[in-house]
This record gives sequence, C-alpha cells and structure tokens, in this order.
Amino acid sequence: MIRTLAVSGYRSLRDLVLPLEQLTVVTGANGSGKTSLYRALRLLSEIAQGRLVASLAAEGGLTSVLWAGPERIGRDMREGRHPVQGTVRRGPVSLRLGFCDDRFGYALDLGMPSAENPFPLDPAIKREAMWTGGRLSHASLFADRRGGLVRLRGATDGAWKEAAHDLSPFDSMVTHCADPANGAELLALRERLRDWRFYDALRTDPAAPARRPQVMTYTPVLASDGADLSAAIATIRAIGDGEALDEAVDGAFPGSRLEVEPGAGLALRQHGLLRPLRPAELSDGTLRFLLLCAALLSPRPPELMVLNEPEASLHPDLMAPLARLLRRASRACRIVVVSHNAALIAAIGQEGESGEIRLERSFGETTAPGVEPPRWEWPKR
Ligand SMILES: Nc1ncnc2c1ncn2[C@@H]1O[C@H](COP(=O)(O)OP(=O)(O)O)[C@@H](O)[C@H]1O
Ligand SMILES: [Mg+2]
Repeated sequence: MIRTLAVSGYRSLRDLVLPLEQLTVVTGANGSGKTSLYRALRLLSEIAQGRLVASLAAEGGLTSVLWAGPERIGRDMREGRHPVQGTVRRGPVSLRLGFCDDRFGYALDLGMPSAENPFPLDPAIKREAMWTGGRLSHASLFADRRGGLVRLRGATDGAWKEAAHDLSPFDSMVTHCADPANGAELLALRERLRDWRFYDALRTDPAAPARRPQVMTYTPVLASDGADLSAAIATIRAIGDGEALDEAVDGAFPGSRLEVEPGAGLALRQHGLLRPLRPAELSDGTLRFLLLCAALLSPRPPELMVLNEPEASLHPDLMAPLARLLRRASRACRIVVVSHNAALIAAIGQEGESGEIRLERSFGETTAPGVEPPRWEWPKR
C-alpha cells in the first residue's frame, strides 16, 4: 500500500514528499496546491495506462506544468532581501513523480525532449527507477532506465540484463518492459497503478450520466463519471456489503431505503412518498451521496482511492454520514480525500485516526508545514 508520495517540479509542487495514511485528508486554502496534488497522483496512475505524456500535453505541455518559480529559493529571497527572480539554471529541467511502500519504490523524471524531436513541448522520460524495500540505493535498484536504455536485474542471479535499448522518450518502462518472464515486478507495478481509482466532480446536473437509464450488468467498480450507478449499487447488494450500504443510506436520509430491480434499475424509497424515486428524480445532493456510496463501498476495492472535493453540493447534515462512509471504506483500501470543507474534516476527525495534510503556499511553492516528510531519494540523471 502506497505510503510515501513524492513530487518535484510539478506546478506549485516544487519539492514535496508526503506520508499517506490509511485515510488521509488533504486540505488548504484556495490555490494552496490541493488539485495539483490530486493530479500528481493521477499522473502516476496514468503512467500505467500509457497516458502520462498525453495527459501532460493536455495540461498545456511541459512548459505550462513545470514549476514556474526559481530553481532555488534562497534565504535572502525568503526573507525579502532579494526579489523573487530567476537565477542561472544549474540543473536540467525536471518534473519528477514517485511513490513507495514497504516493498517497492518507483520514480520517474521527465525533461525536455531532444532538439530533433518534432514535438518540442511534449515531456520526455529521462530516467525511471524501481527498487525494493523502502529506500533507493545501488543495492535495492532492480529496474533502471536512462534515456532509451532499460536494464532489469535478474531475480535469481542478480545480474543486469538489457530489456530495451531504444525505448521512446514518450513510453514508460512500466508499460513497455513489463513481461511475466523478465519484468514481473514491472508488470505487478503496472497492474497496481492501473487499479488506483479517482473520483473528481461526480456529476449530478440534470443531464448527468447517473440520471440516465442504465443497463444492469455486473459492475464492481463505479465508472468515474458515475454512469453505471444503478448497476454498481445492484452489485454491492449482490456480492458486497449490502448492510453497510443500507446503513449509509439510512444514516444520511433517515427512513430511506434503496431498491434495485433487475428490470427497473435503482430507486430510493423515501419517508412520506407513495412511490420510490428514480435517479433522474433525485436532488443533486441525494444523488451525489448515492454515487459516493457506490464508489466507496465497491466490492472490489483498489489499493488506493482518491476523491477530489467529494462534499461539493452536499448539505452540511451529510458530512457526518460521509465521514463514516469514508472511514468504513478505508478499512479495505487507502483513501486520500482532497477537501477544503471544515465540517467534513472535523467529522472525519471525530470518526477516528486519520492523516491530515494542510497545504500552504509560500513564495509560490506548496508546502505542508507540520508534516514530517518521509525519507526520500530521487534517482539521479
Ligand atoms: N506551473 C506552475 N508553477 C507554479 N505554480 C503554478 C503553476 N501552475 C499553477 N500554479 C499555481 O498553483 C496553485 C495551486 O493550484 P491548485 O492546485 O489548483 O490549488 P487548489 O486546488 O488548492 O485551489 C495556483 O495558485 C496556481 O496559480
Ligand atoms: Mg482545487
């Protein structure tokens, strides 16, 4: 389970290493870097889908996502004796992402493509490393990429073998060198990263996918747009924790109960109404809470689930039920919640232990004062 996240040179995250707990709340004022942190996690998982470079290109290319402040912020600059200004760059342009748990670590370093590359804004992968145990060292390194050259260390003899010598700067060794015979760990890493789940702005507007009629098929994972809500709820009922679902719904809307019929789909029976209401008829807040139930009570929990501002459009009364739901879901997977809602954060605190990361911006740079950064070393170029 991911324990440490490291980001450097990405938007306002100039240099940040953070511990992730079973349930972590990331908070901070507007512009402190919460969304950037959410996106950094998503970029890591996109490596495994072969979408990293395309994703960064969609954000405006390297020049736009790269830390826009000075390479180093000296003490004179921080104390105001020196204006914030660019200094002569000493190191290469670099955007780095990495994470580790107790068993493995992985890091990637992106830079400018070579001069002859026809797409000068696309980031190029300069370096990738994967290691065992908590710390990167010569001895713990077992998958190593420099430029186009990828080497893997044999599991039995410990000898380095070449896995690729001309890997494209836009392709990751995680997707291109993962084969069961030689790159089994890379394959395992790819599968893990692919499974990370992200929920951001689950739509509840009148045209929201969740409001449309749906085909009821086996759906252990709610789609990121919530389009298969009814089927996901039916699947929780069939093979998951239906009791937790009923408790969550009753806790949020006392006296209400979800009904799922194979032919008719989902409906919510509410106190005082003569007939149950279909998703198309539910209020925004009610629908959003049901979407969160479906996401969080997935019968196939991922290693990591990340939710960006799940409380949006929920009534303050729903913060405690939502906190309970998050807590319950965190028994089965690691959860990172990005939120600036004080009521939700307080409610999560009342449910028990959680990691709280409060982001602040200082000299344009996102910092996490009060959070002890775990040990972390970046692979060198
Ligand atoms: N390339 C960049 N370099 C430095 N700062 C950036 C860059 N791109 C965006 N920012 C700044 O990063 C800050 C954090 O943005 P964001 O993560 O969206 O904050 P939040 O979600 O906490 O409101 C914003 O104030 C934005 O101006
Ligand atoms: Mg934001």
